[in-house]
Amino acid sequence: MNEKQRVESQKVQANNSSDKKSDKDYSKYFETVYVAPNLKDAKKRGKESVQYHKDFNIPEEFYGLGNGRKFYIRTYGCQMNEHDTEVMAGIFEALGYEATETVEDANVILLNTCAIRENAENKVFGEIGHLKALKKNNPDVLLGVCGCMSQEESVVNRILNKHHHIDMIFGTHNIHRLPHLLKEAYMSKEMVIEVWSKEGDVIENLPKVRKGNIKGWVNIMYGCDKFCTYCIVPYTRGKERSRRPDDIIQEVRQLAALGYKEITLLGQNVNAYGKDFEDIEYGLGHLMDEIRKIDIARIRFTTSHPRDFDDHLIDVLAKGGNLVDHIHLPVQSGSTDVLKIMARKYSRERYLELVRKIKEAMPNVSLTTDIIVGFPNETDEQFEETLSLYREVEFDSAYTFIYSPREGTPAAKMEDNIPMEVKKERLQRLNALVNEVSAKKLKEYEGQVVEVLVEGESKNNPDVLAGYTSKNKLVNFKGPKSAIGQLVKVKVLEAKTWTLNGEMITETVEVN
Ligand code: 5AD
Ligand code: SF4
Repeated sequence: MNEKQRVESQKVQANNSSDKKSDKDYSKYFETVYVAPNLKDAKKRGKESVQYHKDFNIPEEFYGLGNGRKFYIRTYGCQMNEHDTEVMAGIFEALGYEATETVEDANVILLNTCAIRENAENKVFGEIGHLKALKKNNPDVLLGVCGCMSQEESVVNRILNKHHHIDMIFGTHNIHRLPHLLKEAYMSKEMVIEVWSKEGDVIENLPKVRKGNIKGWVNIMYGCDKFCTYCIVPYTRGKERSRRPDDIIQEVRQLAALGYKEITLLGQNVNAYGKDFEDIEYGLGHLMDEIRKIDIARIRFTTSHPRDFDDHLIDVLAKGGNLVDHIHLPVQSGSTDVLKIMARKYSRERYLELVRKIKEAMPNVSLTTDIIVGFPNETDEQFEETLSLYREVEFDSAYTFIYSPREGTPAAKMEDNIPMEVKKERLQRLNALVNEVSAKKLKEYEGQVVEVLVEGESKNNPDVLAGYTSKNKLVNFKGPKSAIGQLVKVKVLEAKTWTLNGEMITETVEVN
């Protein structure tokens, strides 16, 4: 821990009524931790270089902390959060805790939260409310809130003022401090809060318990420096900092050796990968060019920012092989004027030019996107430009959102002046177009043979298997259970709006 992160210990009168007991006395190690988030610090982007901590390990005094105890983590939001949950699960298990799938069984419950839109936050506050009864019945259970919401001052204040049954709050940069925070929470009667707002470090060697053994996530960078005016992520996830290529390549190699078939490289803005290196000229293109040589069936990455998507990366992706022919390329709006006030730093024309280049290099590529409707001042004409861009690109699918003001972002200071009925109507029109284009594209698959990475039984029908193509199309099909975890060929018999139905075939045929 460096000076800027030094824990300022201070008692908080959080009026926590629960009587926490611990079977061991750890008081000699701690005073109650209280480091609250600070928006001003979160905005800062310091010049100091990234510190790499290669040697994370859990100090001996924490061993056995979880013996006889169970943990439960509920995850909200994106893949980054899902992966953080895998790291926290790794730390819990290293401490001796056991995982449980039922909250009633758990001794520690964590909510790993998402701050991206108001409805994501409302869900979490709903869950915090539900947990009150559980805490009443079982005062010894530890309740924690972590993830992106805990980086927000307003959220921490609301929990401090209204939700005294919460025992601990910790931030996205404090995950590796989980052993300390758990111990502290066991012995403290007050709410333990540790949220570092300004973080420039990369911590390697964190333990992980991965959710499956077919597809794996690998972080390649953390944070975001783009500061799109609507987005809270640069404040909740800190400055852009890249993991060193060797560490990433080693992790992918390990997963390949363990039999994983697909890797998704993760970052808030993966195209900025390597921009923070001071000693080497190295970007996402270089990294992909190395990783494609590893013997693993599929390599994906998410999420891209069009502004940083360079020609070198396109050239590398065009080499194909295990680099999948699917790119998620959030556009947000089809109007240059709206893009300007969103501070996306590209125009409609530049986005279309990028798409043209990608399609030229990868004629078979599948493109998906994110779109926000109802941004402040968005006119009908500007919204129509989004529809026309969608038709022009012919995205395979899209995540579509109604604009949600996030406190502390520049857009939240603009008047949120599009009435909700108009926002909803725009969303409906956009979704109708998304469905229409998706259905049309899926229809083209009928009669074709696709390669599917089989993930398991279909959620709705255990007699049917389900998996994804390299373009991320969900395929349901009849086949033997032995196919789970394998890449198989499936003949598509029928296209639905979102999924394909088919049957597994065993002859050798060309796949699409
Ligand atoms: N309101 C609505 N949607 C948002 N997104 C990010 N911030 C907001 C917001 N304030 C969307 C963007 C982004 C995706 C992850 O969430 O489309 O790409
Ligand atoms: Fe992920 Fe962003 Fe949501 Fe955080 S706010 S969980 S980074 S989508």
